[in-house]
Amino acid sequence: MTDATNIAQDLVTGRWRSQILHAGVKLGIVDHLETQSHPATAVAAALSLNPENTYRLMRALASIGILDEGAQGVFSLTSAGQFFLSSHPNSMRGVCLWEEGLPMYAAWKHLPEIVRDGGDDGFKREYNCAVFDMITSDAEVGALFNSAMTSYSQVETAQVLAALSELDVSQVRQVCDIGGGRGHLLCHFLQAHPHINGIVFELPETLADPHDLLAGQMDLGDRCRYTAGNMFEQAPNADAYFLKHVLHDWNDEECIGILKNAHAASHPGARIWIAEYVVPGPDTPDFAKLFDIHMMSVLTGKERTEAEYIDLLDGSGWPHVKTWCQPQGSMSVVEGVRAA
Ligand SMILES: C[S@@+](CC[C@H](N)C(=O)[O-])C[C@H]1O[C@@H](n2cnc3c(N)ncnc32)[C@H](O)[C@@H]1O
Repeated sequence: MTDATNIAQDLVTGRWRSQILHAGVKLGIVDHLETQSHPATAVAAALSLNPENTYRLMRALASIGILDEGAQGVFSLTSAGQFFLSSHPNSMRGVCLWEEGLPMYAAWKHLPEIVRDGGDDGFKREYNCAVFDMITSDAEVGALFNSAMTSYSQVETAQVLAALSELDVSQVRQVCDIGGGRGHLLCHFLQAHPHINGIVFELPETLADPHDLLAGQMDLGDRCRYTAGNMFEQAPNADAYFLKHVLHDWNDEECIGILKNAHAASHPGARIWIAEYVVPGPDTPDFAKLFDIHMMSVLTGKERTEAEYIDLLDGSGWPHVKTWCQPQGSMSVVEGVRAA
């Protein structure tokens, strides 16, 4: 086969790979191989799975580089497979379970009609509600989503901290992470800057179980508090704000609302740090251009160019100061400072 034929075939069957991976992670096969190699029959017996189909799935997982199939059909995890262990420090397990799970999968099927008709939000077309309505009303879906966000953060927090490593924050005393999830980014930022206190501002449902919140687990309970609220109505007062993976969920009008609420709560000179995958120019293939289609399929949001983020900042009283661009495929940070 020619290279072009291989590329075309891989693209057509890309979903097969991600669904094979999803099944292996969801059924516990990946976690079961954490410490020891096993034949498929032993994995099937331990996890109450059909032995013949378990072997076929594990053979396919080996074919996509997640497992190794050794002599006598004994399977072990590859180094790529380890990233899907629950215990991996940069685990992508939550991302895999959420992004290839039923709600996201079902939303994507509306993509052709969304592109044909205009509009967005395949999720609403499928389920007749917005994605955050389901996340807050269905505890199981909410738990999957919040684990996925923490899972994304296990890679992204390091990128954001690296981007901001030279930043002078000596005058900053209080940082608020709006839509900050369970606090992964903020807690790691506070660890790096012991003179700063923090607030994670989140929907009440995300904060419902204190065991899930990272400040306690990271021994930062005295410096990081969690405040429940609606970012479309208000924001806490702070010297600086993080918005990581928040603005990309929303359309321009909704983003301006969030930014204006932070503006109203803060004082002149306050700073805002927008962490997102910034869309590069037309000649550069980039993850942000794919993530943009995900946003089109499941929410009202979009991935934006740097100029589009600057327009949002200018339109909400946070003139742009600087952008920390990161290597391709990593998060960038766009900074605004509150005008008088
Ligand atoms: C895509 S997630 C990003 C979470 C986190 N910043 C991160 O990067 O992992 C968006 C977050 O916004 C929160 N959120 C959605 N609507 C909100 C609202 N109206 N007020 C406050 N938070 C909201 C969600 O609960 C979710 O945690």
